[in-house]
Amino acid sequence: MDTEGLLALDLPAIKNSTNTINRGERMGIRKPIHERVLNASCKQELKAAYRDWAERYDTDLVDEMGYVAPKVASDLLLKYLNDPNARILDAGCGTGLVGSIMHKCGYTNIEGVDYSPDMLEQAAEKGIYRALIEADLTNALNIADRQYDAVISVGTFTCGHVGPQALDELVRITKKGGYICFTVREQAWEEDRYIPKIEAMTAAGAWEMKEMHTADYIRQEGASCKACLYRITQ
Ligand SMILES: C[S@@+](CC[C@H](N)C(=O)[O-])C[C@H]1O[C@@H](n2cnc3c(N)ncnc32)[C@H](O)[C@@H]1O
Repeated sequence: MDTEGLLALDLPAIKNSTNTINRGERMGIRKPIHERVLNASCKQELKAAYRDWAERYDTDLVDEMGYVAPKVASDLLLKYLNDPNARILDAGCGTGLVGSIMHKCGYTNIEGVDYSPDMLEQAAEKGIYRALIEADLTNALNIADRQYDAVISVGTFTCGHVGPQALDELVRITKKGGYICFTVREQAWEEDRYIPKIEAMTAAGAWEMKEMHTADYIRQEGASCKACLYRITQ
C-alpha cells in the first residue's frame, strides 16, 4: 500500500477513536502503578515507576488486564520471519514477555534492550535472552549498523515513553531486507504524529510497509493499538 493509502486508511480510525488512556481511568480498572506509568511527566519519573512495577508487571498486565500486544506483535512478525536463527532485538523488552513468546516459537537468537535496570532484571530471570542491554531508545544506540534480521518493539511506542523519532535508530541497526515490527498505543499514534514520520521514512526509501492494522492492546480497558510491520529497503 502506498503512503496515501496509509493516510486514507488511518483517518477514520483517528476520527472515531476515543481517549483510551482516560477511558481506562474512568472505568477505574487500572492499578495506581499503571496510572503512574501512563502519566509520568519525565524519564526519571517513568523509570522510577517501572522500578516499582517490575516484579508485579507480568501478573498485573497479562493475567489481570489482558495485555495481548506481545502476542499480537509476535504473531505478526512470525508471519514474515521464517528463519529460526534470525538475530532479533526486542527494543523496550521490559520483563521479557515478547522474548518468551518468540523463544517458545523456536526463535532463540534474541537480545533485549531497555533503559530500566529493574525491568531488565526480570527479563534476565526468564533466561531466554542472549544479551540484555541497558540503553535509552531515544538516544543514539551503541550498536553498529545493520546488525539484526528483525527488531520488535511492543508497548514502548506509547504515551510518555518513546516517540516516532526513535524509529530512525531501529532502522539503522536492522539489516537490509530485515523487519521492524512495533505497536503504537492508539492515543499515542494520534498525539505523537506517527503517520508523518512513517511517511517520510517511506518516501526516503528507508522501508516499505508490509502490514499496518488496528489490533487489541489491553483487553480489560478496551485499548487498541496500531500493529505495524515494515521491511527495510535501504
Ligand atoms: C509497557 S513496557 C513494555 C515492555 C515489553 N515490551 C512488553 O510488551 O511487556 C514499556 C517498556 O519501555 C521501557 N522504556 C520506556 N522508555 C524507554 C526509553 N526511553 N528507552 C528504553 N526503554 C524505555 C520501559 O522501561 C518498559 O520496560
